[in-house]
Amino acid sequence: MTGSRLSTDSYKGVRDFYPDDMAVKEYIFDVWQQTAESFGFERYDASILEPAELYRAKGAENAELVNEQTYTFTDRGNREVTLRPEMTPTVARMIAAKQKELAFPVRWYSIPNLFRYERAQRGRLREHWQLNCDIFGSSDTLAEVEIISLAHQLFLNFGADPDTFEIRINDRRWLNETLAAAGLDETKSKEMLALLDRKDKIDNFEAEVEKIAGPDFSLPTEPPGDSGVARVLEGLRELGINNVRFAPEIVRGFDYYTGVVFEIYDTSPENNRALMGGGRYDNLTALFGGEAVTGVGFGLGDVTMRDFLETHNLLTADITAPELVVIPVESTENLEAMKVASQLRQSGLSVAVDFSDKKLAKKLAAAGARLSQYALVLGADEVNTKKYTVKNLATGDDLSGSLEELLNSLNS
Ligand code: HAM
Repeated sequence: MTGSRLSTDSYKGVRDFYPDDMAVKEYIFDVWQQTAESFGFERYDASILEPAELYRAKGAENAELVNEQTYTFTDRGNREVTLRPEMTPTVARMIAAKQKELAFPVRWYSIPNLFRYERAQRGRLREHWQLNCDIFGSSDTLAEVEIISLAHQLFLNFGADPDTFEIRINDRRWLNETLAAAGLDETKSKEMLALLDRKDKIDNFEAEVEKIAGPDFSLPTEPPGDSGVARVLEGLRELGINNVRFAPEIVRGFDYYTGVVFEIYDTSPENNRALMGGGRYDNLTALFGGEAVTGVGFGLGDVTMRDFLETHNLLTADITAPELVVIPVESTENLEAMKVASQLRQSGLSVAVDFSDKKLAKKLAAAGARLSQYALVLGADEVNTKKYTVKNLATGDDLSGSLEELLNSLNS
């Protein structure tokens, strides 16, 4: 019999969101949304489905992503369709379609779910959500400065200390010129870029560099003074952002980047991986005819974001808990407790009634363990006198009075 039962497992590499996980996801999305909007970014969205050719077009391709990681299928009308593995080609398509109507520069953000057929591992799944923030129509390096300072602010808004993450910046244009000046032809340059991209994953990096470029080749440790990356670093420092450095090994896997590229890394050795990545891409919209509109932006994943928050103890149980729990002493008072709860919701607090069969002490302990802020115990006295006491579970302070008085105090 058991052989014929359906599995309760989700499809490999995607996640079910039970309420606790959903609450964390929603919390992350809320902070993303508030931060993006605080910088004046407008939200957009699109379908998960795109024509497969969008990812195969010259200049848009990322060989690994397209050849090995896309979910592509043929629909009933014989069209090849791909579940979007990233948002950048989609947003470039949308910008190109409305190019004549938009007043550039535009600042757009979205939180799409993306699919990549990856080997599932820590920080890498087959479905993830990604905050995308992009500025279109500004070639000023201040656009890079703004987009990176937005990413920086996101981390601060989660309560992160600037020591816990590092922004690494490079310049694709400069890198290409440096490789050409060192005498590397196109094939060797590509090999070198691929090698740099894997720097953190291999042990014999120096030996591999020598194999491609000879013994005399080395990348500078300081950015050239007149480069885009130097101007971006200077702008960020002016804004008081100091956890940032020039990183000549940052390449980014996508062919569409044409200038400054950047990643944010967790500085904890336990979670040493890229949390976000982005850069400047000048020509992507030109794939759709019309003139090229330059773009600069980044993608930040929810899986790596959560890993970061957990690594640095920035997720606490209060994210999922109701702010106030009404606790009836006896189950005969459950309905009365619901009436009180319904009035208390006018304070704007989230309020739930614990109508389990547990003993009073257990119910109080449960409210405390979930980090609810307040508890209101409701017994026969409270029902008779219509006077209640709200306990602040963190400070132990009490607040007593009629519902009206309590609402006034909770509102202030
Ligand atoms: P990406 O580097 O491929 O860039 O992805 C950006 C971020 O998305 C990564 O740093 C990581 O946090 C997250 N991410 C990527 N793949 C996965 C996965 N399989 N599982 C979990 N998280 C993942 C892009 O996608 C560019 N389109 C970003 C961009 C926007 N560039 C300009 N604008």
